[in-house]
Amino acid sequence: MKKKNNPFLLKGYVSKELFCDREKELEQLFTNVKNGIDTTLISPRRMGKTGLVFRFFDHLRENGNIRSIYVDIFSSRNLSEFIKLLAEAILLEFPEKTPVGNQFLDFIKGFRPLIGFDPLSGQPQIQINYQSAHEKENTLQGLFNFLENQGEQIVIAIDEFQQISDYPEKNTEALLRTYIQKLTNIRFIFCGSRKAMMINLFSNVKRPFFASTQYLSLEKIDREVYSSFIRNKFSESEILITDEALTMVMDWSLIHTFYTQSLCNILFYIAESQITIDTVKVACVELLKRNEPVFYQYRQLLTTAQWNFLIAIAKEGEVNQLTAQKFISQYEIGTPANARRISKSLLEKELLLELPSKKETSYRVYDVFLSRWLENEY
Ligand SMILES: Nc1ncnc2c1ncn2[C@@H]1O[C@H](COP(=O)(O)OP(=O)(O)OP(=O)(O)O)[C@@H](O)[C@H]1O
Ligand SMILES: [Mg+2]
Repeated sequence: MKKKNNPFLLKGYVSKELFCDREKELEQLFTNVKNGIDTTLISPRRMGKTGLVFRFFDHLRENGNIRSIYVDIFSSRNLSEFIKLLAEAILLEFPEKTPVGNQFLDFIKGFRPLIGFDPLSGQPQIQINYQSAHEKENTLQGLFNFLENQGEQIVIAIDEFQQISDYPEKNTEALLRTYIQKLTNIRFIFCGSRKAMMINLFSNVKRPFFASTQYLSLEKIDREVYSSFIRNKFSESEILITDEALTMVMDWSLIHTFYTQSLCNILFYIAESQITIDTVKVACVELLKRNEPVFYQYRQLLTTAQWNFLIAIAKEGEVNQLTAQKFISQYEIGTPANARRISKSLLEKELLLELPSKKETSYRVYDVFLSRWLENEY
């Protein structure tokens, strides 16, 4: 039997057949759009925010023909770059050759931009030089108004939204809030993984976006649902995965989407007709080996004390109290003040992940592969 294409994606979104679950989240997003509510979508890195946005866009196309625009502002450093990315995203949804796309190009030409196309991807590129801050703000407002005036419902997802906090134009939040507030045809999804920054943006009384959106926090996919998705994808290629092997996949990858997908991806690649615990072990070793250069890089960026602290957490798996005497003395961390200082900097570097729950907050190594590697190597 010839194997199909690998069904376990490591980036992006292809089709709903390769996408597991998230039914509740899709429903909430849809309900919000229908009720004129903007959404703030938060999760740790690599849990599936971007995938969910594209899955949702598919859903919008199928149910009600609602248009969608995706803007990833991770690479932007200021308001001009934000506007540039937004304009390019609009052009992608309304291509040049369509009537609206044509109208949009005419509109944009009013700002005397340089318009080109990326020679490799063919994607539109727009460069605008502004005479003044006022002109820049007008352009931004103009883009939103252009979309609003299309008279149809449009959803705009802005990925890595926390980025705007770093712009030198300190009024960006206020500007966006003012413009967005007036739009009736356009709904927004603001995505981000830096939880503290996102919550500060949307829940701080003193900030413009205060209480203007509904939170959607993306958790792990349900274990049972994800397990049967994985079993089915293997079985579609006539590969059988034993129950024990599947349990090991879920446990080892902590059901953190990207890590689970990566393990399944490599399993699919090496498996013949059956996957047992031994196959999973081989796959785990191979995965860690492939990622070793990244781990060495982490080590170079950290002090010995920080590195040892990460090892301690990895050995424990999850730790509730980072300053508890037992933990500190077992791993020779020094004083509670040391533990506090080190954990603070590791949290800032996104090497430790905070896992809040009703009862207590616990911590683990953010990158699941690094965690497994530290656990094995030391
Ligand atoms: N529901 C799902 N079913 C199957 N694969 C998924 C699902 N959600 C996400 N993925 C896959 O998991 C990986 C991580 O997802 P994604 O990039 O969407 O996460 P993210 O939260 O946007 O991460 P980041 O914060 O780093 O941008 C990708 O390979 C994606 O294809
Ligand atoms: Mg993402």
